[in-house]
Amino acid sequence: MRFASVSLVLLPTLVLSTVLPPEWNEPLHALDHDPEAPDREDPDSDSSYIFDTISDPLGDREMAIQNVLRSPTKFANFPPIVAHPKDHEKTLTPGEIPDYVLDYSPHVYLYSEERYLPYDIRDFVTHTHARWKNGTVFNETVANMSLHKLATLPRKKKIYLTCNTDFDLDPDWITGVHNRPSLIDGEIKNAPATLIVVDKGNGWVDSFWFYFYSFNLGPFVSGSGPYGNHVGDWEHSLVRFYKGKPVIVWLSAHGGGGAYYYHNLEKSQTSPLHPVIFSARGTHANYVSVGQHPHDLPYDILSDFTDRGPLWDPSKNYLGYTYDGKVATPAARNANEHHTGRELEYGNWLVFRGHWGDKQLPLTDPRQQYSLIAGYHHIDGPTGPLTKSLLRLSPCGRGKWWNFWQGCNIRENIKWGIGVESEGYNCGNIFLHVRPKWLRSVLNQLTWGGGFCYVVDLLYG
Ligand SMILES: *[C@@H]1O[C@H](CO)[C@@H](O)[C@H](O)[C@H]1NC(C)=O
Ligand SMILES: *[C@@H]1O[C@H](CO)[C@@H](O)[C@H](O)[C@H]1NC(C)=O
Ligand SMILES: *[C@@H]1O[C@H](CO)[C@@H](O)[C@H](O)[C@H]1NC(C)=O
Repeated sequence: MRFASVSLVLLPTLVLSTVLPPEWNEPLHALDHDPEAPDREDPDSDSSYIFDTISDPLGDREMAIQNVLRSPTKFANFPPIVAHPKDHEKTLTPGEIPDYVLDYSPHVYLYSEERYLPYDIRDFVTHTHARWKNGTVFNETVANMSLHKLATLPRKKKIYLTCNTDFDLDPDWITGVHNRPSLIDGEIKNAPATLIVVDKGNGWVDSFWFYFYSFNLGPFVSGSGPYGNHVGDWEHSLVRFYKGKPVIVWLSAHGGGGAYYYHNLEKSQTSPLHPVIFSARGTHANYVSVGQHPHDLPYDILSDFTDRGPLWDPSKNYLGYTYDGKVATPAARNANEHHTGRELEYGNWLVFRGHWGDKQLPLTDPRQQYSLIAGYHHIDGPTGPLTKSLLRLSPCGRGKWWNFWQGCNIRENIKWGIGVESEGYNCGNIFLHVRPKWLRSVLNQLTWGGGFCYVVDLLYG
């Protein structure tokens, strides 16, 4: 989920955000786009097997692992991670998805009462047509829209897949109501995940799992909302391997995310190699624990909620690709043999550079609302997988706009949710047992609610 509001954990910004006009929200959208992937036309598009996609203009980059991980001593003997490894530095060939990527794939707990479930992008686009940002419609997409038509659109960000009918009425293709994971093996039959594997050289391999939901229901703020809704929701997680062993797991949440050492994460009870992660109610932001997860604003104004709802195993049904910064190649083999080669039916969709959902509604639209603290009710749909910094060296990608030091803190400890449903210790629960209640409340206020914990967490997490 992407959240449009001007927001920071610390109190001063709450004040700041209440005095800034709505227009101030606009530039933040720009930061949701990958700075590494500027708009550019790409003339050759029609090869159906090799996908020439987006070049990385930054060229050759590499990063010593010491810079990426907090403990220089622990990782002193690891070789550098490389954005554009040379052939002799690679361990994978194009289209090769190694078994370990599937062995250690994350399993995802959806929220128990999730109203917006995963969806198949191929079906999703048939309910949309493409428009330029200025409203001009691509006439050829008005009837029979498909992923193949999507792939022929100009390679521009200012294009929006726009719903043919009112998304606010919650049609089945928006809610994905039938896409609950199988109770037997966790498969969602009609909603493939997208797996993109990137060779980072010297034995490093990144596996990105992308999860698509047709709709993002934003959080409520002080009883009003929801805010930050959008059509189309791309979330992802990254498992970073060194020589076939998982080292780091990164999870997307609200334009930022969290990085963890694999060995610290909870694992699936039935297949203990798989880390489990939790998709938050409505926003689908990813966390490593259940409970309440305050984010972006202090005093828990804005929180996500996770619990142990249906368990989704995306490795049962996925579209697989390798990607080298320029070319995406379909997986030579799928873990489900019936799915081998299915990427060809889906075609060259990864080249689409525009938004997977409607443009932010104008304030004149009755469905739109604006709040000084929480921003807009309906915001732009997100851009697709290849715009999510897949060539990143630091596992955190580009980080939040306010994270000006671009730090990437890989957590030693699980970040527990707070609140009554939490299953673990958390700074946010520090005063939970303080009595009387008024004293607890005062202590919470004095420590800035989430702000204090955020800082503590940054230092000691
Ligand atoms: C909208 O933008 C597109 C692409 O920039 C352009 O071709 C089209 O003429 C514009 N339409 C209007 C009404 O300005
Ligand atoms: C697209 O359709 C609209 C409305 O039917 C029409 O006015 C316009 O001329 C069409 N544009 C093109 C390029 O065919
Ligand atoms: C859309 O597809 C249907 C069924 O294939 C076909 O009958 C119809 O003519 C198509 N419409 C357009 C505008 O291409």
